[in-house]
Amino acid sequence: MLDHIDHIGIAVTDVENAITLYTTLGLRVSHDETVPTQGARAVFLSAPHGPDIELLGALGDDTPVGKFLAKRGPGMHHICYAVPNLATAVATCIANGYEMIDPTPRIGAKGKPLAFIHPKAMGGVLIELYEANNL
Ligand code: CO
Repeated sequence: MLDHIDHIGIAVTDVENAITLYTTLGLRVSHDETVPTQGARAVFLSAPHGPDIELLGALGDDTPVGKFLAKRGPGMHHICYAVPNLATAVATCIANGYEMIDPTPRIGAKGKPLAFIHPKAMGGVLIELYEANNL
């Protein structure tokens, strides 16, 4: 069901500074979007090979990323796996007793449906499932 890592999400307190840190080392910004439904700005950076990173800045303290930053500080936020069929993937998780943050997929960055598995179900790691078109 999990095909490959699409991106790794990183919570940051200063998005512009984080962009500079990564672009200086050769990544390029491939997508920059404010996602009101997540209360976050999401900036994707791509390397020539391998998964993207997604920098997540909070639009306010009372947002999921804002709360994450207050509790845990900046750092790794989630790992996103591409799946061939998101509805099937979510149904498989639920059937196997995985606690879902999103039992129903929702629209996230890039206008694509996604669903998060609760970190409690995955040994403390927040996992995003994302339906990739090319699988
Ligand atoms: Co993500």
